[in-house]
Amino acid sequence: MEDAGGILTSKYKQSFKIMEKRELCPDTFFYAIEAPFIAKKLEAGQFVIVRPNDNGERIPLSICGWDSDKGIINVIIMSAGRTSGEINAMNVGDCLADVVGPLGERSHVEKTDGTAVVIGGGYGTGAVLPTALDHKKLGNKIVGIVGARSENLLLMVDELKAACDDVLLTTNDGSIGIEGFVTHALQKLIDDGVKVTSVLAVGPVPMMMAVCKMTEPLSIKTWVSLNAIMVDGTGMCGACRVSVGGETKFACFHGPDFDGHKVNFDELIKRQKMFVEKEKEALEAVSK
Ligand SMILES: Cc1cc2nc3c(=O)[nH]c(=O)nc-3n(C[C@H](O)[C@H](O)[C@H](O)COP(=O)(O)OP(=O)(O)OC[C@H]3O[C@@H](n4cnc5c(N)ncnc54)[C@H](O)[C@@H]3O)c2cc1C
Ligand code: FES
Repeated sequence: MEDAGGILTSKYKQSFKIMEKRELCPDTFFYAIEAPFIAKKLEAGQFVIVRPNDNGERIPLSICGWDSDKGIINVIIMSAGRTSGEINAMNVGDCLADVVGPLGERSHVEKTDGTAVVIGGGYGTGAVLPTALDHKKLGNKIVGIVGARSENLLLMVDELKAACDDVLLTTNDGSIGIEGFVTHALQKLIDDGVKVTSVLAVGPVPMMMAVCKMTEPLSIKTWVSLNAIMVDGTGMCGACRVSVGGETKFACFHGPDFDGHKVNFDELIKRQKMFVEKEKEALEAVSK
């Protein structure tokens, strides 16, 4: 079979080599992965589905950056269970079995005379980065808010500072920035008279819910990225169905970003818990 600079190992098989790996905080790593066809087409807010090895499961991962010329995509992976742990055990030079993408719709970004806010928690801080850069390209004023339990768990702060006009940090224990949650930082912006016209929040479901609860009475357009259970990522299997504005949507195909004021979060939480026992079994099986 023809080989294009070591990237194509057969007509359809690519190498998806890990080119860089960096620990950002305990159990959380930044990766640069060779994926030239995906890197050419990516847009802010999209994601990929990754399978680490031939026997592995597929997991969705947000894209936190890419270089179309070098054919590289960047992801951040937090060890949550079997598959994320398997990838985080891989090293530079190792190859992932499959990386499928780009998947999902691009983030919703439009010109505003106010301030756009992006809020990240955990891997979500990387996920909001491309959207922050899109706001900047449009000439919008953009403020980033990053939250974590403690200073050592904050991710991608320097990268977000480079993309935003200002970045506010929040920690639950007050070790740096505002003591409390990302909503406290958002409240501070509003109290300081900043005209917030849109919010994108990506992170744990309780965080996205809290942001939506705060912005709804203020009529601030709020987008959330739904981390629903996904299997194929193309709208075929139905695993990622979510209720938005009373309609059934597929998070992989219609999202992952949705109008947070219309999302049925209670249903999302219920569906996320559907496979807890199986996930425990899978982790135990590979830990033996
Ligand atoms: C659009 C999207 C983007 C995401 N981006 C990132 C990212 O950039 N970095 C990151 O670390 N994580 C990301 N996640 C979450 C990540 O996909 C899950 O942590 C991962 O699937 C866990 O799999 P596991 O086998 O390691 O753990 P498991 O033990 O299988 O599960 C641990 C937790 O992850 C959730 N989960 C399990 N399988 C899936 C699945 N196929 N799809 C969605 N959630 C699942 C479960 O609800 C469970 O709470 C994203 C999820 C979605 C839907
Ligand atoms: S993951 Fe299968 S329809 Fe969305």
